[in-house]
Amino acid sequence: MSAKLVCAACGEVLPALSRRSSCPCGGLLDVVQRPREPGRTLRARFDRRLRQGDPAVEDSGVWRFRELLLPGRGVVVTHPEGRTPILRREAIARFVGHGELALKHEGHNPTGSFKDRGMTVAVSHASRSGASAVACASTGNTSASMAAYAAQARLKALVFVPAGQVAAGKLAQALAYGARTLLVNTDFDGCLALVREAHEKLGIALLNSINPWRIEGQKTIVFELLQQRGWDPPDWIVVPAGNLGNTAAFGKALAEARALGLIRHLPRLACVQAKGASPFYRSYRGGFAKRYRVRAETVATAIRIGDPASHDRAVRAIRDSRGVVTAVSDREILEAKAVVDAAGVGCEPASAASVAGVRRLVGEGVIRSGDSVVAILTGHVLKDPGAVMEFHARPGARRNPPVTIEPRLSEVERLLR
Ligand code: F0G
Repeated sequence: MSAKLVCAACGEVLPALSRRSSCPCGGLLDVVQRPREPGRTLRARFDRRLRQGDPAVEDSGVWRFRELLLPGRGVVVTHPEGRTPILRREAIARFVGHGELALKHEGHNPTGSFKDRGMTVAVSHASRSGASAVACASTGNTSASMAAYAAQARLKALVFVPAGQVAAGKLAQALAYGARTLLVNTDFDGCLALVREAHEKLGIALLNSINPWRIEGQKTIVFELLQQRGWDPPDWIVVPAGNLGNTAAFGKALAEARALGLIRHLPRLACVQAKGASPFYRSYRGGFAKRYRVRAETVATAIRIGDPASHDRAVRAIRDSRGVVTAVSDREILEAKAVVDAAGVGCEPASAASVAGVRRLVGEGVIRSGDSVVAILTGHVLKDPGAVMEFHARPGARRNPPVTIEPRLSEVERLLR
């Protein structure tokens, strides 16, 4: 297989092992892959690896698809990751008003979010290209994931997060895995601008999703879900959206799967933003004529992003898949989360945006009765314990507050009644 990096803005071509995360012109780079084998052969091999395991890469649900990810031989930094389940729960289907709902739970990845899929590829690439330090801006999950993979690869890790705006579980992970963690007095967008400057001027490898290898790894969410369905695509894939890296990755995965003949038709993408952080939704409503930048505010801190870096790539993904973009309120997000949580599945607030989005799209008649839907749960419930405690401390039909009692059986009996 051969691969090269092509700038989406100016067309400049760079070698695959370039350490640049974006083009000198400022444009984003796309990995252009040319697998040597036909899709038929690859599909059979992917299925064989799924059945028999893959000792070369510890049964990773990312590296199972390695012919489509990172060319050449060399270090592979794998936990392993991926192999996330597809779940069906009646209570959640009832809540969204749609029986054909399945949830692919990316919170089952080693650091508790889908970021591990992009990180295993980007950190492997950084190691192969001789980097000694890696950095990212993050709303929390990217930093947790990068910290873990950098520790494994023995790379120095530098994390830029917005001070006071990162969920406890995520910040704890970055510290625990040993990343140098900078709480920056700005929002995510400010952190990203700063780390991009550090990348340009100080030469630190940048592992945000503007790094094209992150996108390559995240494509495997789609490859794996297609494979789990016997390569029969659902009608819809629904994903929460912040910086739009995942939306871009899904679009690229679908385009490649189609071009290789791994699938016969394309599912439609539905991209869900939080209302208080919905510049992409606004752009979609105006036919993508303009790109917007907003001051973001939402309870779903993972997607509190006002100026998504992968806007252009995501526009392509939505257009190519005849996709839609919607936005849901914090209230809708928290209610959906409470339903997902109470079904014993659990997810963080941003992940619940996809379920809230399905409910909205079903209500609007965009998702039709009988359409098969796979919604992505992007992160684990333990990522944001603060959001859970706050929700259950407030009045509301779904609240489940803890009860303090004296150590007496009579108290237990009273509570059972
Ligand atoms: N869901 C979760 C749990 C996330 O952490 C993120 C992004 C998204 C959804 C949105 O994905 O940015 O590709 O559109 N988190 C990034 C971070 C920004 O720093 O962890 P996206």
